[in-house]
Amino acid sequence: MSFLCSLVAVLLIVHVRASDEAALLAFKAQLSHGGSLASWNSSTSFCSWGGITCNHRRPARVVALRLNGAGLIGALSPAIGNLTFLQTLNLSFNSLHGDIPASLSHLHHLQNLILNDNSFSGTLPVNLSSCISMTKMKLRNNKLGGRIPSELGEKLTFLAVLSLRKNSFTGPIPTSLANLSYLQFLDLSSNQLVSSIPPELGSFQSMQYFNLALNNLSGMIPPSLYNWSSLEVFDVGVNMLHGSIPDDIGSRFPKLESLYLGTNDFTGIIPSSISNISSLRSLDLVHNTFSGYMPPTWGRLGALQYLNLAHNKIEANDNKGWEFITSLANCSQLQVLALSNNSFGGQLPGSIVNLSTALQQLYLTDHRVCGSIPADVGNLVGLQLLMIANTSISGVIPESIGKLENLIELFLYNNSLYGLIPSSLGNLSQLGILAAHNGNLEGPIPTSLGELKKLFILDLAMNYRLNGTIPREILELPSLSWGLDLSYNSLSGRIPDEVRSLTNLNQLILSGNQLSGKIPDSIQNCIVLERLFLDNNSFEGSIPQSLTNIKGLSVLNLAMNKFSGNIPKAIHSIGSLQEL
Ligand SMILES: *[C@@H]1O[C@H](CO)[C@@H](O)[C@H](O)[C@H]1NC(C)=O
Ligand SMILES: *[C@@H]1O[C@H](CO)[C@@H](O)[C@H](O)[C@H]1NC(C)=O
Ligand SMILES: *[C@@H]1O[C@H](CO)[C@@H](O)[C@H](O)[C@H]1NC(C)=O
Ligand SMILES: *[C@@H]1O[C@H](CO)[C@@H](O)[C@H](O)[C@H]1NC(C)=O
Ligand SMILES: *[C@@H]1O[C@H](CO)[C@@H](O)[C@H](O)[C@H]1NC(C)=O
Ligand SMILES: *[C@@H]1O[C@H](CO)[C@@H](O)[C@H](O)[C@H]1NC(C)=O
Ligand SMILES: *[C@@H]1O[C@H](CO)[C@@H](O)[C@H](O)[C@H]1NC(C)=O
Ligand SMILES: *[C@@H]1O[C@H](CO)[C@@H](O)[C@H](O)[C@H]1NC(C)=O
Ligand SMILES: *[C@@H]1O[C@H](CO)[C@@H](O)[C@H](O)[C@H]1NC(C)=O
Ligand SMILES: *[C@@H]1O[C@H](CO)[C@@H](O)[C@H](O)[C@H]1NC(C)=O
Ligand SMILES: *[C@@H]1O[C@H](CO)[C@@H](O)[C@H](O)[C@H]1NC(C)=O
Ligand SMILES: *[C@@H]1O[C@H](CO)[C@@H](O)[C@H](O)[C@H]1NC(C)=O
Repeated sequence: MSFLCSLVAVLLIVHVRASDEAALLAFKAQLSHGGSLASWNSSTSFCSWGGITCNHRRPARVVALRLNGAGLIGALSPAIGNLTFLQTLNLSFNSLHGDIPASLSHLHHLQNLILNDNSFSGTLPVNLSSCISMTKMKLRNNKLGGRIPSELGEKLTFLAVLSLRKNSFTGPIPTSLANLSYLQFLDLSSNQLVSSIPPELGSFQSMQYFNLALNNLSGMIPPSLYNWSSLEVFDVGVNMLHGSIPDDIGSRFPKLESLYLGTNDFTGIIPSSISNISSLRSLDLVHNTFSGYMPPTWGRLGALQYLNLAHNKIEANDNKGWEFITSLANCSQLQVLALSNNSFGGQLPGSIVNLSTALQQLYLTDHRVCGSIPADVGNLVGLQLLMIANTSISGVIPESIGKLENLIELFLYNNSLYGLIPSSLGNLSQLGILAAHNGNLEGPIPTSLGELKKLFILDLAMNYRLNGTIPREILELPSLSWGLDLSYNSLSGRIPDEVRSLTNLNQLILSGNQLSGKIPDSIQNCIVLERLFLDNNSFEGSIPQSLTNIKGLSVLNLAMNKFSGNIPKAIHSIGSLQEL
């Protein structure tokens, strides 16, 4: 009798062991793994195989399967559902495709289902709602679609983390999610969810990270959501939401770090209580219709790093509204300040030079802003991008701009700036883009620009009064690739032979100057040139045969010059030429 019992026990043990092992081998059999599962063979116990963790029971059972980033390619075998003691399944960052097997519903101990960054498709199995121990479910970055099953909200009572970001889920957000009272992290961004945000979600007591960005949600933000006192991140950017920010927001979210409401239809003023949220680091209100003056109390936001208010109707004029800049100067961590495309007007406040030296990006593009760029703009030594464009700002470009040695992109176009281009620009050794077209700049192009060894766009077009010759130093910048546009100025003299150095340049635009002489043959070295505009000048001599060596040329404009002789026949042999 006892012999029989132990025989049955042994058989049972063997059967159970075999079924975990068989399940793992069935899992392996459906995958190509590039050697990462080489240790998975019957010569050792499956508990010692790579990525497997077993418990200490006899027989030992698999409790964790962690093969994140293991180069797995193929489908996920339904046999995984036989690992009934599994608590953690981490297969993130592989190339798994096909359905998420419904057999996972047998895993009643499963706490962590981590399948993010794969290519799973199909719908989310309703049966997953049977995994009643689930606390983390991360399915970000797959190709899942269909509706989010409302059963998840009804059954997965312990869920704390749910990320379905970057899939193709459709339909509304299920109201039942409100049942998930432990939920702290909800990321449904980048899907195609529609309809309004269920007010019931206000019942989340511990919500810290809430992201519904990049969906098609409409309606207002339910007032109940403003009851989440643990909230750190609130992101509903790029939807079709409307309504306004409640006046008392400053006392609602005492731990808020990031508030993203950009690209929606929000209106109203920016309430001054916002400056009571001392933890706030990022505020993005871009592309809405916020209006009124900015509260002048930003200076209290000591942690503020990112403030994007672009594309709204926020006002300022000479009397009022600009005070916030003086206040922002107290935000010593500020890195990005985007004010472009609002209803700002009046004199640009001089206090802009007192903004943080941590500031990396500053954008300002409103037609009604006038005044001048303060002489001390060089104080903003952290700047990597400065855009003052489409304004009525006049005056000269301050010499001190040469102190902004971290500058990579400088946009000063469509303003009323006049005077000489300061030669100190030559100190901006990191500069990649210099765009100062459509202004009233005059005098010579400083030869110091030849020091800008990383410059790939130089656009000084349509200043009309830039004169002198084209500095050969500029033509010696092999970094110039995207474009060199000096059109519609008063440049004279010949094209220097150094043009041969522009071997990476795609566009050379010199139209509308007083350039003369012959086109140097060395232009044939500009082998990647696609657009060449030399029209409306006084070039003479014959059209050089050498142009035909520029094989990728698609637009060539030589009109309104003093060329003589014949058009070289070979020009028609440039296969790419579309316009002549
Ligand atoms: C998984 O379990 C089912 C039911 O117990 C069984 O029929 C099947 O053979 C098992 N699959 C593997 C690969 O072990
Ligand atoms: C089985 O795995 C062990 C490591 O666990 C390895 O040393 C051995 O070469 C493998 N055997 C086969 C046949 O792949
Ligand atoms: C899953 O793997 C990722 C790494 O790819 C890791 O960051 C994460 O902590 C793991 N999660 C669990 C629950 O094991
Ligand atoms: C999924 O659930 C349905 C209905 O509850 C059930 O009929 C089906 O057998 C389940 N599938 C698996 C693989 O468990
Ligand atoms: C769960 O959510 C559904 C739908 O909102 C609701 O009808 C149900 O009462 C909730 N259940 C619990 C336990 O809260
Ligand atoms: C969003 O909704 C609008 C209007 O209902 C519709 O025209 C549009 O196609 C939707 N976009 C997506 C991505 O679902
Ligand atoms: C916020 O919570 C308080 C108390 O917890 C409750 O009385 C109030 O109704 C809630 N507000 C909303 C809008 O749900
Ligand atoms: C900011 O907080 C202070 C102190 O908690 C409070 O007195 C003040 O009214 C708040 N300001 C705004 C604009 O809500
Ligand atoms: C300026 O910032 C400091 C430190 O963050 C803070 O103590 C002070 O209250 C702020 N001043 C104003 C006027 O906001
Ligand atoms: C400002 O808005 C206009 C019109 O919507 C747009 O063309 C332009 O690109 C915007 N400027 C900036 C700097 O975003
Ligand atoms: C900038 O700050 C300095 C020091 O606080 C101050 O003296 C100066 O007046 C400020 N400049 C402007 C234009 O506000
Ligand atoms: C070039 O422009 C400067 C500044 O406008 C002017 O003073 C100078 O006379 C011009 N030179 C020529 C040769 O036109």
